Amino acid sequence: MNSRTSPSTSVVILAAGLGKRMYSSLPKVLIPVCGRPMLFQILDRLNEIAPKTRVVIVVGHQKEKVMEAVVSEEFNLDIDFVEQAEQKGTGHAVKCAMESPWGKATLAKKENVLVLPGDLPLITNELLKEMLEPLKRGSVMKLLTAVLADPMGYGRIVRKGKKGGVLRIVEEKDASPREKLIQEVGVSIYSFQAQFLSVGVAGLKNNNAQKEYYLTDLIGNAVSKKRTIETTVWDSPEDVRGVNNPYELSLAADILNARVIKTHALNGVRFISLHSCRVEPQVKIAKDVTIYPGVILEGRTDVGTGSTLGSNVFLRNMKIGEFTDVKTGTYAEDSSVGNHVKLGPYAHLRPESVVKDHAKIGNFVELKKTTIGEKSAVSHLSYLGDAEVGARVNIGCGFVTCNYDGRVIDGSRKHKTTIEDDVFVGSDCQAVAPVTLKQGSFVASGSTITENVESGALAIARARQVNKLGYAKKLKS
Ligand code: UD1
Ligand code: CA
Repeated sequence: MNSRTSPSTSVVILAAGLGKRMYSSLPKVLIPVCGRPMLFQILDRLNEIAPKTRVVIVVGHQKEKVMEAVVSEEFNLDIDFVEQAEQKGTGHAVKCAMESPWGKATLAKKENVLVLPGDLPLITNELLKEMLEPLKRGSVMKLLTAVLADPMGYGRIVRKGKKGGVLRIVEEKDASPREKLIQEVGVSIYSFQAQFLSVGVAGLKNNNAQKEYYLTDLIGNAVSKKRTIETTVWDSPEDVRGVNNPYELSLAADILNARVIKTHALNGVRFISLHSCRVEPQVKIAKDVTIYPGVILEGRTDVGTGSTLGSNVFLRNMKIGEFTDVKTGTYAEDSSVGNHVKLGPYAHLRPESVVKDHAKIGNFVELKKTTIGEKSAVSHLSYLGDAEVGARVNIGCGFVTCNYDGRVIDGSRKHKTTIEDDVFVGSDCQAVAPVTLKQGSFVASGSTITENVESGALAIARARQVNKLGYAKKLKS
């Protein structure tokens, strides 16, 4: 797109609407599709193909939330906001943008203006590139249309005769029964010459079924003034699928997920079953990774080459190294796992945990804010919280760090357990923190450790066994 010639194109995104039919406490454009707010998916695309573009987002309903969310993300775009205090229609929303200082600057620069609705999570780079192209000489706007099997709810494209030029767009609520049969629709994506747009929205009337100022009326206006309109029929209607209710949200999510999985599969990821997994768009997966059914990968998860994710593994914001085996049912978030690690089945990694290379975390082991050193093993039924475990440590079955006792020490309510290199902890032990097991020490099974253990020492903290001969018979009688 570097070769884009002047005039360049600025972007208006309409995001002031209520989205009533979504029944969500979030403003519609912030509702996530595959984990990413709809509005961000559009900004992501622009960010990829046209960095630094001037974008104005028209906000209204829950405007603080929308602005806060956008500002807290990093987009390499020149983003502004304009308020539309009352939602009087798409034409009025654009009018607010064009009458703002942003709009005046756009007009002064004689730019083109690309208008997009904020609820198009499936929009593609190809579509945006097409719409960012400069308008042809003499034309005042470019209209994008699509032919839908079910056009219900969309504005219908009325043409002169069957295949003739576009005459106007008629909204569903204003359409005659005959017009409702038209399957070609407008999808609220247009590119305008700034001057035409600015004058056009200023002159809109609201004499229609919804008493709204329709942006779509600009088409009829241009035609009546004999101005030239370009039309592009987009032949992949999926890309322009809007989201107006939770059902359409799910449909969009399925399509986006299938696209993401296809891309990974073509790049060398083996999905045992394509359609049973969910992979969010920002997840990274290296080549030669095998993924079993029911896996869910969210956020900024990154899986290294040669690794395997067993069935029903859930990972959010996880870094998984190379040749690591994450077995069935493991749930892990905001943590990092090294190379050649074995995790699970049914391991639980809570935030800020680190599992280093060649370590093993077995079934029903929970880690919280805990580091496990290289080649160490916690193989069964244990809880380690706020613990620092060194290398080559073996922790037997049923170990618990007692990290919380209601006290506050140095401002911290949770106490630390340190287990240095080469320690061996037998089965069924507890460490009452704060406590340290020094290098190479040994803890006998069944011990409750309350005091530090010196390097190389054996700690036994349990009552000595007493065998009372013949006593069993006495008990039974
Ligand atoms: C609009 C189009 C319709 C098209 C459809 C495609 C008009 C009059 N109609 O209808 O032809 O087929 O989109 O999805 O343009 N918005 C504001 N302020 C407002 C009203 C809307 O910012 O006052 C925003 C909404 O947040 C949304 C977008 O504009 O992002 C579209 O609004 P929506 O109410 O969904 O328009 P439709 O009635 O679906
Ligand atoms: Ca809509």
